[in-house]
Amino acid sequence: MLDPYEIRKDFPILDRVINGRRIVYLDNAATSQKPTQVINAIVEFYTKYNANIHRGLHTLSQEASQLYEEAHEVVAKFINAYSWDEVIFTSNTTDSINLVAYSWGLSNISEGDRIVLTIMDHHSNMLPWRRIAEMKGAEVVYVDITNDGYLKYDMFKELINERTRVVAIPGMSNVLGTIVEPEAIREVARLAHEVSAIVVLDGAQSVPHTPTNVRELDVDFLAFSGHKMLGPTGIGVLWGRREILNEMPLFKTGGDTVKDVTIEEVIWHDLPWRFEAGTPPIAEGVGLAEAVKYLTKIGMINVRMHEERLTEYTVKRFSEELQNSIELYGPRDSAHRGGVIPFNIKGINHHIVGLALDELYAIAVRTGMHCAHPLHYRLGLKGTVRASYYIYNTIEEVDYLVEALKTIVEMKEQVKATYEGVIPGTVCPTG
Ligand code: ALA
Repeated sequence: MLDPYEIRKDFPILDRVINGRRIVYLDNAATSQKPTQVINAIVEFYTKYNANIHRGLHTLSQEASQLYEEAHEVVAKFINAYSWDEVIFTSNTTDSINLVAYSWGLSNISEGDRIVLTIMDHHSNMLPWRRIAEMKGAEVVYVDITNDGYLKYDMFKELINERTRVVAIPGMSNVLGTIVEPEAIREVARLAHEVSAIVVLDGAQSVPHTPTNVRELDVDFLAFSGHKMLGPTGIGVLWGRREILNEMPLFKTGGDTVKDVTIEEVIWHDLPWRFEAGTPPIAEGVGLAEAVKYLTKIGMINVRMHEERLTEYTVKRFSEELQNSIELYGPRDSAHRGGVIPFNIKGINHHIVGLALDELYAIAVRTGMHCAHPLHYRLGLKGTVRASYYIYNTIEEVDYLVEALKTIVEMKEQVKATYEGVIPGTVCPTG
């Protein structure tokens, strides 16, 4: 079991005091905080090694290149990739999925083809595919969820047909916390591969919180972000099967994507460089590698178990003490749910609850539709309050959240009157 109290010592931001209270950071599904080890690795890079990579014979450039290449190796090992050069650094999950959509999608999807998505996907794993469908005249169909937030797995069998080219699924819902279990992913991959479709796994929420093994999952692509797993912003990962990557046309072209260029001809670079156009996120790669080392030291199974414990405890306290005043969404069974708790207090707008939690208790949560509008519309919701956990969150913080919510429920009318005028159309313009 991991010790969140020891871990907290590595996260200086958690000591920050806002409005006289130490912050309680429960917005980890949006982005995680960074340990000193990651911050120091980035500072050290800029202090001692900063140079552009693959562009200089001088010592600094050689060292920076080596660090950046090693970062690919560290990430490859973390997800059990076959080889380091199947790991492409992008700027985030959205960028990774756009790379697959515009490169593989544009050259392999034709009019009348089918793209299978799920209603649970957040916009990053939905909109790039919808755009490609629009451009190519393909159809998009959606696997639905049950009312308690599980994917209706039987629908994959119904929807994946001979015309299907892509099946895109999330590893974990960023709203409901629903975990799409490895066995289920493997079964979806089996169905997709039977008709020669590819499977794109959006690991934005699952890779930071659960063990990931791309060989076992049998998917074709995996996308995730550095910043949700203790790493810096500005770096994401696309892992892909080598044989598919080797056949894919370039998405972006420019510096470092080529071995040679004449006026007549271009000889493209090897993997992964041909998909990392321009100066890549070098310091960010170094920071991400440090984050991966930090998580590996803790053990991803321990990360998962810690969050399962927090989730189980939250669901229990919510249902025992807040059942009449709060609507909780998603699976009740914490064995199939990550540390994501979406809810509404009956009769109060979600943004008001978020503002009150922030101002009165220094609790940071996300409110709105969490870049997953179709899922909220499916559930008949205008938005939710979302608390999301990570390795440094504690049972005491869950208790503090529950007590804060109980007070907000008791003072409902007063809270509404205080914050009604402040509800921002502008705070969360994209929900
Ligand atoms: N997908 C991110 C979230 O859930 C941005 O907050």
